[in-house]
Amino acid sequence: MSDFPRSFYITTPIYYASGDPHVGHAYTTISADILSRYYRQFIGGDKVYFLTGTDEHGVKIAKNAELAGLAPQVYVDQVAESYRQLWQDLNISNNDFIRTTEERHEKFVRFFVEKLKDNGYLYEAEYEGLYCVGCEKFIAEKDLVDGKCPDHQRAPETLTEKNWFFDLNGKHSSRNLLLEVKDLIHSGELKILPEKMEKEVLGLLNQDLPDFSISRNKQNVKWGIPLPWDDNQLIYVWADALTNYLSAVDGSDWWPAQVQLLGKDILKFHAIFWPAMLLANGYALPKVIFSHGYFTVDGQKMSKTIGNVVDPVEMTKQYGSDVTRYLLSTNCPFGDDGDINREQFVEKYNAFFANHLGNYVNRILTLAHKYYDGKVPARDVSLEKDWQNQVDNAWLVYHQAAEHVELEKMIKVPTELIQSANEYITKLELWKVMKENPEQAAPHLYNLLEVLRHSALQLYPIIPEGASKILEALGVGIDGQSAWGGLASGQALNQLGILYPRLENKQ
Ligand code: MSP
Repeated sequence: MSDFPRSFYITTPIYYASGDPHVGHAYTTISADILSRYYRQFIGGDKVYFLTGTDEHGVKIAKNAELAGLAPQVYVDQVAESYRQLWQDLNISNNDFIRTTEERHEKFVRFFVEKLKDNGYLYEAEYEGLYCVGCEKFIAEKDLVDGKCPDHQRAPETLTEKNWFFDLNGKHSSRNLLLEVKDLIHSGELKILPEKMEKEVLGLLNQDLPDFSISRNKQNVKWGIPLPWDDNQLIYVWADALTNYLSAVDGSDWWPAQVQLLGKDILKFHAIFWPAMLLANGYALPKVIFSHGYFTVDGQKMSKTIGNVVDPVEMTKQYGSDVTRYLLSTNCPFGDDGDINREQFVEKYNAFFANHLGNYVNRILTLAHKYYDGKVPARDVSLEKDWQNQVDNAWLVYHQAAEHVELEKMIKVPTELIQSANEYITKLELWKVMKENPEQAAPHLYNLLEVLRHSALQLYPIIPEGASKILEALGVGIDGQSAWGGLASGQALNQLGILYPRLENKQ
């Protein structure tokens, strides 16, 4: 078994409070929830801290608020609420929800940037650049398409202003933080996963990476946290946003995070700028920065203009939280890009929930009620060895997958166990044996129920609602009791109706 960390702090990016959440945001948060639930099972609920939240400052948000005819704070309150609601509907077990307009955050950010300045890493300089309001960042001329930002189809604005800059390249202080970050990645002290993303980051580190500004003139950005020592400047979006990972846990000892999850769009900020800022202020670095891929929908980039934005709220209403979680987290290997094909949703649901898991649960619980008085039947240790080996091995693979943040591999393990169990039933023609000689068949049903217990424990992080019901029907809890033989013969089994009815494909 893998070595578990003593505590587990995991974060998602804080999502821009600039509009409704979409399925990409849901994907990252569900993934973080899977890992959080897994670690709670194995190291204890109070040893896990799962943080998500909303990023609420900046030009775009202020503009959207204006368009909605609302004061920025009222607007972000509403958006933050829609995120909170979605997380609740998706059964997300976050311990905290940080908002960058909260006093606890603003106070910490002021402290953090002041410390950067006191430590000698900030300097004032003139900046001129092309700024895309949609991206909330300066955009390089080479990245424009027909003079427009390719993501937002609008021409950037030219901005010239005096800003405070962070000394990434060591021209104003005694340390070259870029080089230090590079060394820490090379030495494995700072892990960027998956490997291809580490390569990407190292590639970036080999190019020229200019220092970045941590403030904006108040005239150009009006919605933000003022710099403590310069009233004309507001703290610029990334210095404000990244600091949430610390501000949320300030005064506790959760930091450093074990895993920081994010999409590849914001890898540079997390894998380079963030560690450099942490080093500058003497903080430990996160253990793993995991960058997952990007979803397209029906082969195209998700966009309001195309009209293919998959709304996670609708999806959850239609399928429920477990199915939405499953469909999104099995869409592609974690770390790869994936395409969401909505036409396959029902088919995938039927294949896994109705035909595979649901059918198995129903089959063996029905047998237990029919032939063994609704109790766990007697076991025969001499008939358990193969199953025990298979289950032990399954746990090994499962733990390894979790450790490497290979979520789709985690899901595969219980799926395969159930597959083997179904084959076992067919091979031994157990329904026949049970009818003719229930006593002889009893230990086999014991094995099948025990396999179900292990599968449900492994499925719990992914589909917590259904897995909890299954474990409840077996009369056991959700904690990671992964040794073979956890079910006690004679223990009463609870009834469980049809968990996952088949759906008709209406398309
Ligand atoms: N506010 C910043 C992050 C600051 S973190 C200190 C931000 N917010 S965002 O609302 O744009 O969210 C970006 C994140 O949402 C991505 O990193 C990713 O986790 C998720 N996704 C957004 N679109 C996605 C896809 N199309 N596919 C998969 N995930 C996507 O950037």
